[in-house]
Amino acid sequence: MSGLVEAPFIPSPIEVVEKALDLACITSGDVLYDLGAGDGRVVLEAARRGAYSVAVEIDPYLVEVIREKAMEAGLSSRVCVVEASYYDVYLGYATVVYAYLYRYILEKLRSKFEKELLVGTRVLTLDFPVTNWIPVRVKRVVDNKGIVRTIYLYIIGYSNPGSLYRRTRIYDYRRLLGRIGSCRGG
Ligand SMILES: C[S@@+](CC[C@H](N)C(=O)[O-])C[C@H]1O[C@@H](n2cnc3c(N)ncnc32)[C@H](O)[C@@H]1O
Repeated sequence: MSGLVEAPFIPSPIEVVEKALDLACITSGDVLYDLGAGDGRVVLEAARRGAYSVAVEIDPYLVEVIREKAMEAGLSSRVCVVEASYYDVYLGYATVVYAYLYRYILEKLRSKFEKELLVGTRVLTLDFPVTNWIPVRVKRVVDNKGIVRTIYLYIIGYSNPGSLYRRTRIYDYRRLLGRIGSCRGG
């Protein structure tokens, strides 16, 4: 195992994962990365919705769990499992990034996000916001234990307007926000 385990495996409740993916309007055209993928529940749900998904996980046991679950679900062709630290994985192919990680980790990842993610990429975080970014949506969801969970949705370029970009995807934010507003989670 290389890199540092910065957060323990605490899974996002599945009903919260569903709401988060609804909020970001995941479709078959998306490529979702889960940074610290745990047992793979997020990447598997994204793959069930037709997206290509990438699980980045440092724990070799969890890496095996994700591979087995993807195989059992017949989703191996749409789920790529990378055993690595999220700091070491290039994120520029993502259209959606999911991160259920502590605030200080998101703070460390923020500059990587701003350097590598293309304009228009959606970033979903659970319970912890990305400091200094402006969310386009904040959704509160009660999980199956009765606890209120908060999902933050950001869009690169829109949520961090002060940043400079060398790499851009042509983006029409009004169209993207309109799409987000009119789908299940909007
Ligand atoms: C809070 S859990 C989130 C699991 C999953 N994303 C979910 O929402 O159900 C954090 C995960 O990050 C993994 N992790 C911790 N440090 C990591 C690192 N440096 N690189 C990649 N994964 C890491 C842990 O093994 C754990 O599975």
